[in-house]
Amino acid sequence: MHGLDDGVVRLREWADEDAGWYAESVRDPLIQRFTTDSPSLDAAQVRAAIERLRQADDRAGFLVCDSATGQRLGNIALEHDGQAGEISYWVAAQGRGRGVATRAVILFSAWIFQHMGLREVWLRVHRDNAASQQVAVRAGYRRDPRRDKSQQVKGEVWPMLGYTLVQAES
Ligand SMILES: CC(C)(COP(=O)(O)OP(=O)(O)OC[C@H]1O[C@@H](n2cnc3c(N)ncnc32)[C@H](O)[C@@H]1OP(=O)(O)O)[C@@H](O)C(=O)NCCC(=O)NCCS
Repeated sequence: MHGLDDGVVRLREWADEDAGWYAESVRDPLIQRFTTDSPSLDAAQVRAAIERLRQADDRAGFLVCDSATGQRLGNIALEHDGQAGEISYWVAAQGRGRGVATRAVILFSAWIFQHMGLREVWLRVHRDNAASQQVAVRAGYRRDPRRDKSQQVKGEVWPMLGYTLVQAES
């Protein structure tokens, strides 16, 4: 089995043809409530972001899709400094509630340690985002108050809780 496929979900590289789906998906109210994605994002802006991602050496990102059918399900991304990195993710409304995010975070985190050589991966979740906190814990992340932060997003202050996963000693 490929490192980015667990037989249920697969992480694959973004293609230009995915841009419209991304722009449409992020208009979902829950994605607007809990991520920094703009509600007015359009396909051309997403295509430009995909191109920037291809060129970047401090970022990585994949489309999360169904292993069997290829149906698009979500987004998962990393920003890093060569030592540690922050991941972020969302699952489109129709793909939620069946473990997609948890599987994607597990696959992506293992890939980051193996292929990017990072020692530590962390994420930040809004205090009210119980589903995503559950995803972090299910994927093996630990609450990490050192990473807590209040962030200014969309004209509000968002209280964000930190979660960290450290590469297992081999
Ligand atoms: C958070 C999100 C990614 C979860 O995706 P998903 O594929 O549905 O997640 P999973 O099915 O892997 O797991 C969700 C877990 O949260 C639980 N959950 C779902 N809604 C919940 C709620 N309102 N309160 C508490 N737990 C909840 C589920 O029961 C599940 O836990 P379980 O496996 O122990 O049953 C998805 O809801 C989403 O995209 N939300 C909007 C964007 C977002 O919040 N991104 C993360 C920013 S940090």
